Amino acid sequence: MSQLFEPLAIGNLTLANRITIAPMCQYSAEDGNAGDWHMIHLGSLALSGAGMLIVEATAVSPEGRITPQDLGLYSDDNEAALARVLKAIRAHSPIAVAIQLAHAGRKASSHAPWDGGQQIAPDAPRGWHAVAPSAVPHGQEEVPPVALDRAGMDKVRDDFVAAARRAARLGLDGIEIHAAHGYLLHQFLSPLANHRDDEYGGSLENRMRFPIEVFDAVREAFPSDRPVWMRISATDWVPGGWDIEGTVALSKALKARGCAAIHVTTGGVSPQQAIKLGPGYQVPYAQRVKAEVGLPTIAVGLITEPEQAEAIIANHEADAVSLARAMLYDPRWPWHAAARLGASVQAPKQYWRSQPRELKDLFAGAAFGQR
Ligand SMILES: Cc1cc2nc3c(=O)[nH]c(=O)nc-3n(C[C@H](O)[C@H](O)[C@H](O)COP(=O)(O)O)c2cc1C
Repeated sequence: MSQLFEPLAIGNLTLANRITIAPMCQYSAEDGNAGDWHMIHLGSLALSGAGMLIVEATAVSPEGRITPQDLGLYSDDNEAALARVLKAIRAHSPIAVAIQLAHAGRKASSHAPWDGGQQIAPDAPRGWHAVAPSAVPHGQEEVPPVALDRAGMDKVRDDFVAAARRAARLGLDGIEIHAAHGYLLHQFLSPLANHRDDEYGGSLENRMRFPIEVFDAVREAFPSDRPVWMRISATDWVPGGWDIEGTVALSKALKARGCAAIHVTTGGVSPQQAIKLGPGYQVPYAQRVKAEVGLPTIAVGLITEPEQAEAIIANHEADAVSLARAMLYDPRWPWHAAARLGASVQAPKQYWRSQPRELKDLFAGAAFGQR
């Protein structure tokens, strides 16, 4: 029996299986509004048979966007635009839908990757001044960000809260707070980006303080029966950077405050990072967090094969896997994994006739007779 296709509880949310779709920026919104691209893209992924879809990094304020085309959840228009997409998904798919709430910090005001990804200078058309824990740029050639003062940090926290309230109204099943990949909350955690000398910089406890404040505020703002969790980069891949020990400490602190899961990724805070890439290269970090913290733990990164995903769950390395590129390449990955592992998935009845005859139990609840 496949364990990948066993249900998983994240707080009060039960996923039909342990395959989650990683958040993936589409850089395709206008003024933060989801549009037809999101309808097609998220709609397609919602039919994948995965247990959960995590909507892309969604900015809590215009200045928190990575690019001018990022998805946002900071205005009534943003909320209405996303409601349209979610209504379509809910009508046709049982998939759990969470959203990743994000602030880009010093990585804001950038071009989309397909336009080179460089910083858009603050005084250039469509550019703006980025904010960060300290006035230290991500890349040496970049215009430095403005260091946040207490009022600026209060605004960031309140923007997360307002977005969480909108997410609650939208009926989203969970919130993932983005504290990874070198964006604002990761910048607070990492000594490479955080050079503050107040109570938010220096010691591990101080560097964790603002991400925890944001977590508490979001947890408080989102209905208590729906989960909130965090995505953390477990290492900066740079000596002297954020590391797995800090990740475990932060995860334990979050657990004590009602965090429902940890999504374990790595890197993103420094161009100096030396990543050791390979199949499942980040799974050992998830395994450490799972073993030492005991929260449901999601592993991600070059998980591409059904047997590989099955082994990660069966060997208790993680409680769920998260796939990004493999889901873009093959949006029916969970169907194919179920076929390989002798399990079944939820699929829309309009597609039931695609089931190969030898896999007669592939689609849960499928009724054949009339063809
Ligand atoms: C197109 C694309 C967009 C991404 N956007 C996000 C994002 O919005 N938030 C995030 O935390 N990670 C983002 N990532 C990283 C993925 O979530 C994932 O961690 C990474 O791609 C490794 O997983 P994979 O090997 O399955 O692709 C993105 C990756 C891709 C390929």
